[in-house]
Amino acid sequence: MTETRSPRKVLILGALSAMAAATARRLADRGSDFVITGRNADALERAAKDLKARGAASVAIQTLDLLETGSADAVMAQAVEAMGGLDTVLVFYGILGNQAQAETDPQEAERIIAVNYSSAVHWVMAGARALEAQSGPNRVLLTASSVAGDRGRRSNYVYGSAKAGLSVLMQGLAHKWAAQENAPRAVNLKLGFVDTPMTDGIEKGGPLWAKPDDIAAIAERALTKGGPNVYAPWFWRFIMLAIRGTPAFVFNKVNL
Ligand SMILES: NC(=O)c1ccc[n+]([C@@H]2O[C@H](COP(=O)([O-])OP(=O)(O)OC[C@H]3O[C@@H](n4cnc5c(N)ncnc54)[C@H](OP(=O)(O)O)[C@@H]3O)[C@@H](O)[C@H]2O)c1
Repeated sequence: MTETRSPRKVLILGALSAMAAATARRLADRGSDFVITGRNADALERAAKDLKARGAASVAIQTLDLLETGSADAVMAQAVEAMGGLDTVLVFYGILGNQAQAETDPQEAERIIAVNYSSAVHWVMAGARALEAQSGPNRVLLTASSVAGDRGRRSNYVYGSAKAGLSVLMQGLAHKWAAQENAPRAVNLKLGFVDTPMTDGIEKGGPLWAKPDDIAAIAERALTKGGPNVYAPWFWRFIMLAIRGTPAFVFNKVNL
């Protein structure tokens, strides 16, 4: 069996996200062990049943609000104990929030930042510590960031700034691990438009929109190679290259 298809010991933070669920299904097919976290205990039970039916070796559940970061190291320790090790931490939780509301309501701005960035810092750092303490091969910490973090735009710049923070955090972690032998890998997905419940308020359709299964295939591949930044799908690398390079006097005329 090649590494690409070998089982993993996977902790998923935000396992009920559409993209996390699609990724978990692929990893279950190869007999992985899981600890899945989320806020909805019944939905986690259903997801666990589904993953077991697909071939998961084991699935443990932790019902958690990921804004509560005080338990992060304990959650990692419990995951190591439940699975007899840990080689994969997937950080998929997030919210889009409401940009217009965030401009008048500081609590909405705080919610967007807390979910997408400040809590994520704690989970990423705890995940990094847990993976560093393991000695096996192919250890990976993967986050779900966004192309929105590549350049601020009027429709979602509070969310974009939080994702930019997450991307730089992962870039720094990847830089640290690149200097060490046998270190884990840090992989940051820079996602474009994906058809999930998060984007239900946005008009969907057209060639720029991906499905959760498309992203799951990219995430699974990224567990073996690539990174630290993986544009998902790939064409967003070139779109964002163009968007970042567009002079402000042109960009300001575009309603994005
Ligand atoms: N969809 C896109 O176009 C897109 C584009 C760029 C980046 N992303 C990023 O991709 C990731 C996955 O999003 P998705 O599109 O798969 O969305 P999704 O299906 O709506 O999933 C988001 C998940 O985050 C969970 N969550 C939010 N706040 C939480 C908290 N405090 N504690 C625990 N769980 C929490 C939600 O749980 P509940 O069900 O309990 O609310 C939900 O399961 C997110 O980080 C998002 O920012 C998405």
